[in-house]
Amino acid sequence: MIAPTYKRTLVTSALPYANGPVHIGHLAGCYLPSDIFVRYKRSKGEDVMFICGSDEHGVPITIKAKKEGISPQDVVDKYHKMMGDSFKEFGISFDIYSRTSSKTHHETASDFFKVLYDKGVFTEEITEQYYDEEAKQFLADRYITGTCPKCSNPNAYGDQCEQCGSTLNATELIDAKSTLSGSKPVLKETKNWFLPLDKLQPKIQAYLDQHKDWKSNVYGQCKSWLDSGDGLQPRAMTRDLDWGVPVPVKDAEGKVLYVWFDAPIGYISATKELRPADWELYWKDKETRLIHFIGKDNIVFHCIIFPAMLMEHGDFILADNVPANEFLNLEGDKISTSRNWAVWLHEYLIDFKDKQDVLRYTLCSNAPETKDNDFTWKDFQTKNNSELVAILGNFVNRTLVLTHKFYNGSVPHAETFTKEDLLVLEQLASFPDKISSAIEHFKFREALAEMMNLARLGNKYLAETEPWKLIKTDEQRVKTIMNIALQITCNLAIVSEPFLPFTSAKLFTMLNMPTLKWHAAKQTTNMAAGHTINKDELLFAKIEDTEMEAQIQKLAESKKAIASTGSATATGSATATETIEPSKPETSFDDFSKMDIRTGTILEAERVPKTDKLLKLKIDTGIDQRTVVSGIAEYYKPEDIIGQQVSILVNLAPRIIKGIESRGMILMASNSKGELSFINASKTNFNNGSEIK
Ligand code: MF3
Ligand code: ZN
Repeated sequence: MIAPTYKRTLVTSALPYANGPVHIGHLAGCYLPSDIFVRYKRSKGEDVMFICGSDEHGVPITIKAKKEGISPQDVVDKYHKMMGDSFKEFGISFDIYSRTSSKTHHETASDFFKVLYDKGVFTEEITEQYYDEEAKQFLADRYITGTCPKCSNPNAYGDQCEQCGSTLNATELIDAKSTLSGSKPVLKETKNWFLPLDKLQPKIQAYLDQHKDWKSNVYGQCKSWLDSGDGLQPRAMTRDLDWGVPVPVKDAEGKVLYVWFDAPIGYISATKELRPADWELYWKDKETRLIHFIGKDNIVFHCIIFPAMLMEHGDFILADNVPANEFLNLEGDKISTSRNWAVWLHEYLIDFKDKQDVLRYTLCSNAPETKDNDFTWKDFQTKNNSELVAILGNFVNRTLVLTHKFYNGSVPHAETFTKEDLLVLEQLASFPDKISSAIEHFKFREALAEMMNLARLGNKYLAETEPWKLIKTDEQRVKTIMNIALQITCNLAIVSEPFLPFTSAKLFTMLNMPTLKWHAAKQTTNMAAGHTINKDELLFAKIEDTEMEAQIQKLAESKKAIASTGSATATGSATATETIEPSKPETSFDDFSKMDIRTGTILEAERVPKTDKLLKLKIDTGIDQRTVVSGIAEYYKPEDIIGQQVSILVNLAPRIIKGIESRGMILMASNSKGELSFINASKTNFNNGSEIK
């Protein structure tokens, strides 16, 4: 099919359930790729709108409410705020982050249902649904678990099996169990309204046939749906539940819209809220291109059920693409909110302040675009140290430092270009198109790799031309080299923006340049001779092994909690009860007595520059005064601990930390969150140098 030309793009990101904080799996799955896509489109000056919000209905919310002992409304209020904040902090640039409990949404979803109802789209059926006699309620969706009839996964939900991706009807589950009481549910008759997907199959088939260009994981899953034994089955669009959008027809007391009916309509409601005057342009005009970014467990809802709803309604455009990602695992295990096996964004920011771009970089370069992928802390560290620091940071730093050193920060005039220079300039100008093409094809890993190749080109150019040596013999030539290096830096600021928005902003500031748009990156003369740049600051800092060990330790604690209780709280260590470390293996008295532990007093304390965690301390040990580097900066301010009495291991072999010789170690107690405090149980003051035995 010849691609139609579009005037505008409407990008949606799956509305996350407001039942827990945002983790790296969310980010990698759909929020980061959609944000990169939208930022890139904005930089190109295209008309693009970016929609998201919290999915606040459905059983995942009511289950969470039960677990936390609060009302469903309290659950969604709490997590809607938290999720919105996390997205903002990580630079996910939604034009609106709305919520499905809003009035506009209730009205929009309700009206949508009525239109289909009045058109006679639904079939009204009295069927037997599972009912929990103890809890006195019907059991829909996640209130019921059992064995998947398609793949035998014993933990399938009443509406979906996460293992094989099938959507299910609860009555299809083998050995169904109520998640409320654990009891075996009974069948009870009730009336619901069904979307006759079986009858709609030919239309859906025709729609999908027009989109063979979709990612193969997406197209393949849809195809296997349509081709499976009995094809599509009618699906209930209402539920016997008390949390959701009430079914707006008579005889429907105690019933709400199925969450997968109302939630995607949330995209429409949010657009209305954002653009009350012209929202219809984005949903009804054939010249709008609609793109849904989602994770793979949402494919059938976005490629089959929602399009079927839109088709039957009749007023709306359908998605032109649904670039779903596969899943991201964490250290080899499936990410899980309920088991607390995740890296939570709000916790990440405590440990890695201002390092949003490092996570964005790692998640994008390792995105589960075509298959499930694994996030490991080791890889995170390598990506930071060997790529962001060693390639991008290094190139920019050398360029800016030399510009200040040689020319007082003023961009030198390019004199004559050599053959090599011209080749570099030609390559430089070719990057935006290469990156564009990858982004337009939803190949974000490839696009990011190209962006880094531009930094590599810069590094290679500097390494080959060696301006730092040449300055002694050929000042004229160095001007040209530095001019080119600055052009590369400026274009890096432009093309890195979709991926690393915080870094890009810093770069523009250091270059003392306004934010340039995408097309400018095809030029090689953005930095005019004579323009003065600002002071340079470090773009990326090395991440130490100890920081990674702390993260791995934190995960190990989750593992232990999972093993002992079968689950953990969703907010992770923030609310987990203290877990006590098991005792280490026996040690001999001789080994113990080799350690010389003394009381000492902190005389001076200051932060180790360019680190978040380290303090440089001067300690009076009674024996001497010495320097110790200690990883306590997160817990203590330097000015607060002068005079603090501490226990110190004085005969530990000296170590060089960040270029400082550290002699000895302060003993600290660590709680289950890994937070450290001084051990000062005693009220008595000791003389410095007292031995601890
Ligand atoms: N809340 C769903 C999930 O987290 C996604 C809903 S996407 C929407 O899996 F289309 F329904 F909004
Ligand atoms: Zn299954």
